[in-house]
Amino acid sequence: MEEKRRLRIISILWETDDAATFTLEPVDGNTLDYQPGQYLSFVFQTNSGEKRRAYSFSSSPGADALPAVTVKRVVNGEFSNYLLAHAKPGDILTAVGPHGRFLLPDKMPETIFYIVAGSGITPVFSHLKALLATKDTTMPRIILYYANRDSQNTIFKAWIDRWMTDFPDRFECLYFFSREKNADHALFRHLGNGLLEELLEQHFAGKIKRNTRQNTLFYLCAPKAIMRTAEMTLRLLDFPEEAIRKEIFVPEWNLPARPTDRTKIHSIVVHGKNERIEFQTFEGETILNAALRHGIPLPYSCKSGVCFSCLAKCKRGEVDVVFSDMTNREGPGQMINTCIGYAVTERVELEYE
Ligand SMILES: Cc1cc2nc3c(=O)[nH]c(=O)nc-3n(C[C@H](O)[C@H](O)[C@H](O)COP(=O)(O)OP(=O)(O)OC[C@H]3O[C@@H](n4cnc5c(N)ncnc54)[C@H](O)[C@@H]3O)c2cc1C
Ligand code: FES
Repeated sequence: MEEKRRLRIISILWETDDAATFTLEPVDGNTLDYQPGQYLSFVFQTNSGEKRRAYSFSSSPGADALPAVTVKRVVNGEFSNYLLAHAKPGDILTAVGPHGRFLLPDKMPETIFYIVAGSGITPVFSHLKALLATKDTTMPRIILYYANRDSQNTIFKAWIDRWMTDFPDRFECLYFFSREKNADHALFRHLGNGLLEELLEQHFAGKIKRNTRQNTLFYLCAPKAIMRTAEMTLRLLDFPEEAIRKEIFVPEWNLPARPTDRTKIHSIVVHGKNERIEFQTFEGETILNAALRHGIPLPYSCKSGVCFSCLAKCKRGEVDVVFSDMTNREGPGQMINTCIGYAVTERVELEYE
């Protein structure tokens, strides 16, 4: 159901003291097809079983010969620290993917705003490379709001500064530094509700009209506090939900454990490209966990409902998809996160595209 790829680390480039870009080459010699904004999930074998971590491409297919991901250290984080401290050129990593829906739009709007912080720049950097690589002058105007501690800890700052000079009509960036005063193109402020509202109103000259709302797209990738603030402000300013695209790196919650009842079972049928697999789940067991228990490699990464790599289309039956704040009952035609999906009907059929 999912294909594991072996990727050799070709080079490691330190971007800041705690973030590095890993350029990768598929060991099988075939190209790795991906889109700007997608990510790979690295698969690590540990004493307590297989663990996965997602890393977004910082490269862009049109601009870079080889794919690359950029990893930022998380304090006490198991695999970010492993990669940054121990991985070296020549090492082979195992990965699944690419996956992800943080993609550029098919139809370009007039303006794209990016609101990011820290390692959230990674998928956005891939977008920016793709957008700025084109000479098409009808491409959107791009505004990047980028929050960090200071310039030294700002990943890809040299590139971003250069783009501001090279593309003054198409690209602007405003940094938000919490620990550095008087830096160029920067505010010594936290990116809070009031400030964001003020900046957007200034940007749109005080009038956010219907036309503006229809022609602006926002991409958010930041820690949850900033994402929540930004989303609230944008909704308050009446930007429609579909104009706000989000990539979440850290799950906001642990999936609440449901009591498992092994006397009640559901049949799951999974249709892949050339295969059909049937297995059973217990009541209270996620579809993904049941598949893994049977040794069936359904795709996944975060197991927390944030990355969408486990999405499958429901063909028959009903599934409860349990998020932190709501449970959606999904049926035929709808997409199911199998990692947080519990079969409701006796039989459920899913399809992987
Ligand atoms: C779709 C997606 C794309 C991602 N892309 C990138 C990327 O391009 N670059 C990148 O560096 N990371 C990225 N991540 C995050 C990455 O997958 C790992 O979660 C991160 O590296 C931490 O893993 P770890 O094993 O070091 O930490 P863990 O051992 O898993 O976590 C240790 C602790 O840190 C917290 N934590 C985990 N991640 C973060 C974080 N990012 N910030 C603050 N606290 C955190 C955890 O909740 C936990 O409490 C992405 C995640 C997703 C879901
Ligand atoms: S595995 Fe990430 S959403 Fe299901």
